[in-house]
Amino acid sequence: MAFDPEALKAAMESARRKSELGDNTTDQVLPAEQVREQAVKPDVDLTTNYMGLELPAPLVASAGPLSQHVEDIQAMADAGVGAVVLFSLFEEQVKLEQARATAEMEVHAESFAEALSYFPTEPSNESGLVHNYLKLIQRASSAIDVPLIASLNTPISGDSSDISKRMVDSGASAIELNVYFVPGSVRDPREVEDAQLRILESVKNQVDVPVAMKMMPYFSSFGHLAKRLSAAGADGLVLFNRWLGPDIELDRLEYHPGFELSTPNEGKLPRAWISALRGEMDCSLAGSGGVETSDDVVKYILSGADVVMTTAALVRHGVAYASQLIEGLGRWLEVRRVDLDTARGMLLSPHGEEADAYARAGYVSGLEQAKRVYGR
Ligand SMILES: Cc1cc2nc3c(=O)[nH]c(=O)nc-3n(C[C@H](O)[C@H](O)[C@H](O)COP(=O)(O)O)c2cc1C
Repeated sequence: MAFDPEALKAAMESARRKSELGDNTTDQVLPAEQVREQAVKPDVDLTTNYMGLELPAPLVASAGPLSQHVEDIQAMADAGVGAVVLFSLFEEQVKLEQARATAEMEVHAESFAEALSYFPTEPSNESGLVHNYLKLIQRASSAIDVPLIASLNTPISGDSSDISKRMVDSGASAIELNVYFVPGSVRDPREVEDAQLRILESVKNQVDVPVAMKMMPYFSSFGHLAKRLSAAGADGLVLFNRWLGPDIELDRLEYHPGFELSTPNEGKLPRAWISALRGEMDCSLAGSGGVETSDDVVKYILSGADVVMTTAALVRHGVAYASQLIEGLGRWLEVRRVDLDTARGMLLSPHGEEADAYARAGYVSGLEQAKRVYGR
């Protein structure tokens, strides 16, 4: 469908005036019984391409605490999510287990050299985290009919073991790479960016499934790095990884790690970047952070996100809430008589030279408005 913003705005205004669908177009967090009662499912095609994978809907369960058990993963798929990202396996865990297993083998080899042939040639880690993670991939990927994405979390010094290949061999449809880099590290910007590229390339060399990079926004020129990653073969970028900023406990006089759930305001920064980058690169863009209602999902789509990820909303309201988010998106599209692809990226920021002037004008008018509201 050709995109005509004026025609679309006119259709939206007319739909609003007629109030055809009344109150059930608003997004509220409703009790489960009420949700079931209201369940007039919108008849809208939400099929989405994410990194070449075909998803039934553009809502993805992001890496988090709800993907530790096959039953919960299944429940998210039943609620309609387009894909599930598993919680992260940390590269340090993988290395530690490998080192332990190797050390054990060496002890045995010294004591019982003659019996060495009885030992497996690969460390087994039967009871370890890695083994359990791979087993979970195996079981969950055959239990659901949407893609299961494994998440590998590495420090910027990471050298990426062969674990990503083992994740894919176990049934992962894609890898999400989380190269965790927090503010507070005084490094050369080029070194930090190059590390992201190096880790991406080493994983891409090991697997033949799509690889997404889950990014922090804290780079001197995030957009430039995003373009480099896309050009280097990243199939998707997830904007953004969340910094769990530590707070100070005044009684104990020490830092403690933060772990509060996000708030909807946190969607603004990833949406601004997605809208700025959408036309600049070929890879998929996933919006992550601050989804609470389906309005937040719609905003990400309008900004140009291919998929929208959520953890906090599912933690707060239960995994079945995913269906409410998806139906809310469907209703929004249906009421405005616009299809998903037309809505996606409808509100992109201007590109090139116009971009700076547009951002500056938005900033100045925001400040002027705030002065009128809060000043005298
Ligand atoms: C309890 C919890 C555990 C999480 N675990 C992971 C993880 O293992 N790997 C990861 O990349 N992100 C993890 N995240 C971050 C989420 O994937 C997501 O990026 C973040 O919560 C922002 O999205 P939200 O606003 O939808 O919650 C976790 C988040 C929460 C709340």
